[in-house]
Amino acid sequence: MFSLLPIAALAILASTVSAQGCPEAARFGLLSVSPTTLSPGETFTVTANLTCAVQLGDTPTFLDYYIDGTATHAISGPVQIARRTYDSSTSPPVDQFTAVLPNWFYFADATYSLRMDNSFAKPGPTGVSVITVGSISTAITIDVGN
Ligand SMILES: *[C@@H]1O[C@H](CO)[C@@H](O)[C@H](O)[C@H]1NC(C)=O
Repeated sequence: MFSLLPIAALAILASTVSAQGCPEAARFGLLSVSPTTLSPGETFTVTANLTCAVQLGDTPTFLDYYIDGTATHAISGPVQIARRTYDSSTSPPVDQFTAVLPNWFYFADATYSLRMDNSFAKPGPTGVSVITVGSISTAITIDVGN
């Protein structure tokens, strides 16, 4: 039993930073949005860099994008921005698209972010693939206009 501990420790070390220098934080992809301050109806560009997701074995099958909001009061949402199918042969491994911020009930006192859900397939204990989901978010500001 004790001999397993060093192996487990090495496995944890090895998984923190991959051979290509991909940090764990980039495991599901790196997400950016431009511009970062948006008004309802405004067009924006979303860029998901999936280089590290692919290198670490979390190559997306689907990518879903949402606006999340948090506040001291209830907020309805998340608001779906896009649902995309990812082609694993995409080179370079980037998912970039433009979207329009939907007209919805946004609040000046809320904090918003754009979230990407990376749904990827991994072999389960019997070897049959199972789709699991990892998320990454980036902060945005929504200008509610009052
Ligand atoms: C994507 O991320 C990788 C790893 O961090 C980096 O080397 C590459 O330049 C990035 N590509 C783009 C298009 O930002």
